[in-house]
Amino acid sequence: MAKNEAVISAIGAVASNNMLGLAGWLPWDIPEELAYFEATVSGAALVIGRLTYESMEVVPEDSFIVSRHSDLQLKPGCHRVTSVEAGLAAAIATGKPVFVIGGASIYEAAWPYCKYFYLTRIDRAFEGDTLFPESIPLADWKVVSEERKIYRERKTDSDVLCRFLRYEQSVPQVIG
Ligand SMILES: NC(=O)c1ccc[n+]([C@@H]2O[C@H](COP(=O)([O-])OP(=O)(O)OC[C@H]3O[C@@H](n4cnc5c(N)ncnc54)[C@H](OP(=O)(O)O)[C@@H]3O)[C@@H](O)[C@H]2O)c1
Repeated sequence: MAKNEAVISAIGAVASNNMLGLAGWLPWDIPEELAYFEATVSGAALVIGRLTYESMEVVPEDSFIVSRHSDLQLKPGCHRVTSVEAGLAAAIATGKPVFVIGGASIYEAAWPYCKYFYLTRIDRAFEGDTLFPESIPLADWKVVSEERKIYRERKTDSDVLCRFLRYEQSVPQVIG
């Protein structure tokens, strides 16, 4: 596929108070949301920030880990890249679909190149330490699909509405 034909997507989930992370993991425990994430990125090449990478038990092959640490030891099939742009170019070169899976610093650098942002909006505020970047202008993107589900949130043992949105950016920047 030619570079300028490659579709780059981002995927993530965010609480109503814009929190997306807590102590190196997610602020909530919603297995169905995690399963949706895993199914959506299955078979894709991934671009991942180093902290998010370290939080993942299983990392698929063709994952590109953004880090400034040259001595980083990575799982088999994972490759270090020194910038988000280098990660996106390497992911495109695999010929697979490309997903940016965070964290916040990586979404912030990658969004200009993304055609789609798969964002689950969890309709409750959660305590956290990492916010979804304010600089991502999703309000200017088009919502091309939305599905609503109510799931049990395990930490609070209560139901929560999850809105699975897919945003489209009309003219993403081209890598390379
Ligand atoms: N809700 C969600 O959907 C979701 C998704 C993903 C992650 N998260 C959560 O988000 C939190 C982590 O997010 P985060 O923003 O703190 O960390 P992150 O983006 O996962 O990783 C940050 C690291 O990436 C590297 N990095 C970032 N920008 C770089 C650049 N321009 N050039 C080179 N390297 C760069 C640096 O690694 P080095 O320090 O090695 O140089 C930096 O320390 C965790 O709590 C995680 O669970 C939530």
